[in-house]
Amino acid sequence: MRANDVHRFARMALGLLWLAAAAMAQPKEDVKLPNSPEDLARGKKRYLGSCTYCHGPTGDGGKGADLSRQELVQAKTDGDLARIIEVGIPGTEMPSAWHMTRREVTQVAAYVRSLAKVDVRAVSGNVAAGKALYEKHRCAGCHTLKQNGVFTGGYMGPDLSSIGMKRSAAHLRESLVNPPASLPEGFVPTRAVTVAGKAIEGVRVHEDTFAVVLRDFAGNNHSYLRKDLKEVTADRSRSPMPSYQGKLNATELDDLVAYLVSLKEPLQ
Ligand code: HEC
Ligand code: HEC
Repeated sequence: MRANDVHRFARMALGLLWLAAAAMAQPKEDVKLPNSPEDLARGKKRYLGSCTYCHGPTGDGGKGADLSRQELVQAKTDGDLARIIEVGIPGTEMPSAWHMTRREVTQVAAYVRSLAKVDVRAVSGNVAAGKALYEKHRCAGCHTLKQNGVFTGGYMGPDLSSIGMKRSAAHLRESLVNPPASLPEGFVPTRAVTVAGKAIEGVRVHEDTFAVVLRDFAGNNHSYLRKDLKEVTADRSRSPMPSYQGKLNATELDDLVAYLVSLKEPLQ
């Protein structure tokens, strides 16, 4: 009788274990990743803090896998992606983000998806209408495009000739409505003051232990030895690019994003 009880208990415990294992092995229903600029900005912050070390600031890999590929082999669905971030990949260097809440995990996952260089989702906007908006809003005042083999436009912002190959539609949309959230390295607004008291404002092109190179808003580079500067302040919270939030309606935003996605001048 007693032995029977032990048996029953053991069977029950085994059964529960099996259920738990089955639940873990079972593909979970796919999750919907948050996609607002705020969520992406939070995800980016977390990503830069926890993932850059191995996957690189732009996700193109290093110690860890290249996350900027269009399809992630082990994270084909968003559910898989969130689970990999949450529990890691056992037996590899890919750690579990045990310190993140579920919400943070999905924000990081959304940011990882935005790193994809080639967008997999269809973009709904109208390319021709987007091109007209690009001209109307004078984007070329700050951005260069290669057209018919010739580079035209300004230099204050990044070259956009092949931006459609490098960035996802979500990232491009974010760049327009919340520029500081997508600040590429090399475009961080920085102010330097020389020992002699001269102030230069521009973007930080390079910075190391000994030297700082700034490009002013007229496009001229200034290099300084650190010892000749009494102050260097980088400000990641603002961007030299104006936000188009509220200046473009939803349709216009779609059209402009579609135009940017279409810019796929081959890199040489
Ligand atoms: C200590 C280094 C390290 C850190 C930190 C790290 N990873 Fe990884 N990650 C790896 C390695 C190594 C792999 C490849 C594992 C394998 O061999 O399958 C990987 C794989 C992945 C994959 C699967 C890629 C594919 O092609 O399917 C994803 C997704 C991923 N990591 C996301 C993240 C995210 C997001 C973070 C931050 C929360 C992060 N990783 C932090 C090392 C790291
Ligand atoms: C006053 C100059 C200025 C104007 C005008 C401007 N931009 Fe920018 N743009 C920048 C700078 C500087 C950056 C880099 C900093 C950042 O991403 O916030 C940038 C970044 C971007 C990026 C992100 C690039 C990347 O590599 O992630 C896109 C896309 C972009 N701009 C598109 C546009 C479009 C489209 C317009 C017109 C509607 C426009 N910009 C108008 C200066 C400008």
